[in-house]
Amino acid sequence: MPDRRQFLQAAACAALAAASPPVPAAPDGMLQRKIPSTGEALPVIGLGTADTFDVAPDDAAAMAPLAQVLDALLQAGGTLIDTAPSYGRAEAVTGTLVERAGGRRRVFLATKIGARGRDAALEQVAGSRRALRADTLDLIQIHNLIDTANQLALLRELKRQGVTRYIGITHYADHAHDELTALVEREKPDFVQVNLSVGARSAERRLLPACLAQGVAVLINRPFQDGALFRQVRGKPLPGWAAEFDCASWAQLFLKFIVAHPAVTCAIPATSKPANMADNARAGFGPLPGAAGRERIAALFA
Ligand SMILES: NC(=O)c1ccc[n+]([C@@H]2O[C@H](COP(=O)([O-])OP(=O)(O)OC[C@H]3O[C@@H](n4cnc5c(N)ncnc54)[C@H](OP(=O)(O)O)[C@@H]3O)[C@@H](O)[C@H]2O)c1
Repeated sequence: MPDRRQFLQAAACAALAAASPPVPAAPDGMLQRKIPSTGEALPVIGLGTADTFDVAPDDAAAMAPLAQVLDALLQAGGTLIDTAPSYGRAEAVTGTLVERAGGRRRVFLATKIGARGRDAALEQVAGSRRALRADTLDLIQIHNLIDTANQLALLRELKRQGVTRYIGITHYADHAHDELTALVEREKPDFVQVNLSVGARSAERRLLPACLAQGVAVLINRPFQDGALFRQVRGKPLPGWAAEFDCASWAQLFLKFIVAHPAVTCAIPATSKPANMADNARAGFGPLPGAAGRERIAALFA
């Protein structure tokens, strides 16, 4: 039986979905959602960099396809790139590729701190600004809720100083959703980054409604469960009704299921392949499933 708060949050979800569907930037542009704390618009498909961008920046053969991945993101109108100091060389690769593409003004750079204590965190932030070649970062998030109380205070300070425009908190696992919900309700960060996919819907129960109610933007990590979803559908044809949502691939169906949720601001799939980036970006165009359509998609994986 849902309690009163859950009922109110679900009602807020439905009202917001009806009131503010994602809108394209231009008639044929990628769908966008607003960051609630400022009203700034973000395109709904971004790019993750864990593992895929951990290559040597001076390895031309390894960098070439990643430059094309970035190009495919930008060509489609996407802007958000999510990285972290703990992703090996991914921050340096991102900084190098964005600079080569002349793209700092065209991207929204999100990174993280995953350190205990002020000095270690400040060292990481300095390293991120160097590697990303950016004085001002768009978003710094507390990675996996490490030392959250101390680092939230530090992030607020860095935001006041203009080192970052937004602050956030992240996790990748269902067991952290209650703690994230409590932090959303108490601390109201600009962003939460969390896992959600057709096969992992825990965030929909309390966390996403809380983000809607508190005006917190939501980034979705592990949208393909680190690629496991593609193994589940290998050899299976896409259902004919996927065309109702303009989905021409499983990746697009997985991503539309995510960005159709009214609390979601942007999904950040990772890929090492330009064709896969172009495929993923297509999920930011055309009609999205409604609540019934989302259930129909999820039922394929129940
Ligand atoms: N705690 C945290 O803050 C946290 C935790 C986890 C993840 N993240 C963020 O979220 C991002 C995404 O999560 P993730 O990296 O775990 O994995 P993911 O995006 O769920 O899955 C990535 C996998 O999907 C494959 N793939 C991507 N597009 C595809 C397509 N169109 N068709 C077929 N295969 C495709 C990729 O292979 P190919 O390279 O072959 O395309 C890769 O193996 C991370 O990179 C990171 O930025 C944050």
